[in-house]
Amino acid sequence: MERLDKILSNLGYGSRKEIKAIIKKGLVKIDGEIAKDNSLQVDPEKSQIIINGEEIIYKKYIYLMMNKPAGVVSATFDKYDETIIDLLYPEDAIFEPFPVGRLDKDTVGLLLLTNDGELNHKLISPKYHVDKIYYAKINKEVNEKDVEAFEKGITLDDGYKCMSAKLQVLSSNNEGSEVYVTLQEGKYHQVKRMFESVDKKVVYLKRIEFGGLSLDETLEEGEYRELSEEEIEVLRG
Ligand code: URA
Repeated sequence: MERLDKILSNLGYGSRKEIKAIIKKGLVKIDGEIAKDNSLQVDPEKSQIIINGEEIIYKKYIYLMMNKPAGVVSATFDKYDETIIDLLYPEDAIFEPFPVGRLDKDTVGLLLLTNDGELNHKLISPKYHVDKIYYAKINKEVNEKDVEAFEKGITLDDGYKCMSAKLQVLSSNNEGSEVYVTLQEGKYHQVKRMFESVDKKVVYLKRIEFGGLSLDETLEEGEYRELSEEEIEVLRG
């Protein structure tokens, strides 16, 4: 149960003050009866709420898939840079979603956003072995020795030993390579640092899969959409 004015302001129908005025005008009905009090306790999942003749579709959580562009930080706030939250429409931003894990400022591709803390935890905890697949361009030739080193577990510059990772070489010659990397964890700059430890440099990085969901290729960089019920179920595993 929650206060009626809080429910409606959380859904973006106005400030608490504005909502109080709307209620006072008799424009809000709960289960067919005009609500008289803005502090009324309502269960928005069970009660029918009609505002100005229109039934509200209540949802507590939001789940978004974004094709993150380069130059934007995966944070909810930044002093200098544009954030992924700045790319959201107000009706989605009102749910206060946050990124599920982070992509570097120059990394593009699949980024999930939600306000569902429980699912977020499940998706980013290495304990649950959720696959994240990256497409990367590398400045040098990538060989079988690198594939083996990734499989055994790369040791990063700070001494951290990574979990086993799958490295798949798509093309490779002495001018550079294209690869897929599958990780089940998400350390800071992990893909870049893994390649640095074998003396190579990532020159382009795009996440293409997360937890069984592929990046929707119809999304241009900077665009996003809500996940379907089926996609949310895939993430819940
Ligand atoms: N690894 C990186 O180095 N950067 C990212 O953005 C994601 C994974």
